[in-house]
Amino acid sequence: MWWDNAVVYQVYPRSFQDSDGDGVGDLPGIAARLSHLAWLGVDGLWMSPIYPSPMADFGYDVSDYEEVDPLFGTLADFDELTAQARAHGLRVLMDLVPCHTSIEHPWFTRHPDWYVWTDQPNNWRSAFGGSAWERLGDRWYLHSFYREQPDLDWRNPGVVEAMQAVLRFWIDRGADGYRVDALDRLLKDPEMRDDPPATQPFGLPLPDFLADLAPVHSSNAPDIGVALASLRQAVGRALLVGEVYLPAAEWEPYLEHLDHAFAFELLHSAWDAESQRRAIAASIARPGSAAWAMSNHDFGRLATRFGSRNARSAALLMLILEGPAFLYQGDEIALGEGPEGARYDRHGRDKHRHPMQWDGSETGGFTTAEPWLPAVDPARRNVAAQRDDPDSMLTFVRRLIAFRKGLGPGLELLDAPDGVLALRRGEHRVAVNTTSSIRPLPEGHGAPVIETGPGAARGGTLAPRPFWCSSSPGTTSSSRTR
Ligand code: NOJ
Repeated sequence: MWWDNAVVYQVYPRSFQDSDGDGVGDLPGIAARLSHLAWLGVDGLWMSPIYPSPMADFGYDVSDYEEVDPLFGTLADFDELTAQARAHGLRVLMDLVPCHTSIEHPWFTRHPDWYVWTDQPNNWRSAFGGSAWERLGDRWYLHSFYREQPDLDWRNPGVVEAMQAVLRFWIDRGADGYRVDALDRLLKDPEMRDDPPATQPFGLPLPDFLADLAPVHSSNAPDIGVALASLRQAVGRALLVGEVYLPAAEWEPYLEHLDHAFAFELLHSAWDAESQRRAIAASIARPGSAAWAMSNHDFGRLATRFGSRNARSAALLMLILEGPAFLYQGDEIALGEGPEGARYDRHGRDKHRHPMQWDGSETGGFTTAEPWLPAVDPARRNVAAQRDDPDSMLTFVRRLIAFRKGLGPGLELLDAPDGVLALRRGEHRVAVNTTSSIRPLPEGHGAPVIETGPGAARGGTLAPRPFWCSSSPGTTSSSRTR
């Protein structure tokens, strides 16, 4: 399938490119920048939600699934964007938000029975803190996220039918598939039993306010497959990548219907060889199921999460793995996060969402107006400057993407000295030294064909920390790139 080895570029529409001078990115802005994506060599883009929304959760609170928010443009702009994407050879993925709507969605008043209600709240918690129940009159509605995001009841056939129509709507309009939001929260215990105290770690990081309960009833219901089958039925063979916030060991019922699930164990892995090895091993236990991401609009940017010295290695790791890889906008120039604070997002995620930096001007070429969030450091880091620099992160990422296209099938973890992660991808061997000292190069390496810096591997050793090396025995130095 087209996505087997694809690189999908995550566009956060608010922050990608403003075209109408209101300080907020929009669809014509994205269309105007498609040449950057084509030049970079990615296969497609995933757009975080563009639907009408009161923006309590920046588009993940949808008030109309079959329209475009005026802030981002119109349906005609969407059609133009998909036509232009196609002309550039790029696929377009939408973001489906099936677990909840905005409280302002007309369904909430027209079809209250499409939502989850109780007369007696249980102990379920919202992913953003506090009870997952909000009182309205003499009943409480469930919200797995903000209180402005009431949960749909996927056991109600009306919901299933309505959401299937939504899925078909965008596919018929030219979308190539969906990233599907918050799937582990889609279906809950019909008896609404309390979550029991946690007796073992969840397996992925959770905020402290969630960690003491095991969310076995508030999420991940055993019959989740029934709901997922309806998604699959609606889209046919289009791509479905699930945001399933569960350890890979629990993916099976999801993968019966989805093409891939995001590998959160690697995304959250510490920058050390042993943790990364464990995370990758878990995610490839069922081969071909992982979609790789090292960063996104929720958890932060590559260069900040792993440290700017490791940004190249992190990009190399993600792009060498087998299966679709999702590159978050800005990571290709090692854009860092903005300052802490919660000017807009109550959960403190503004810092992951600052605008793209296209040039060295004050607003980074993102807008001609006051940007909704200021640019982080456009004079220091921007696309225009890095495009012309053979040693830049951008040039490195572009080379990596081109290199990835020639990688053969197969991914295997290899034995390696302490502090070194080694794997085989196709006919290539890859090694990363995650420590700050010189480490031996694992056995079996030939001449480097791609490395994060010149001389990363030399005389049977790997240079400290930021350096990686990938080599294929017998390859000549003329194919070497850095
Ligand atoms: C995951 C999305 O990525 C995040 O931004 C959002 O807040 C939650 N799901 C709820 O939709």
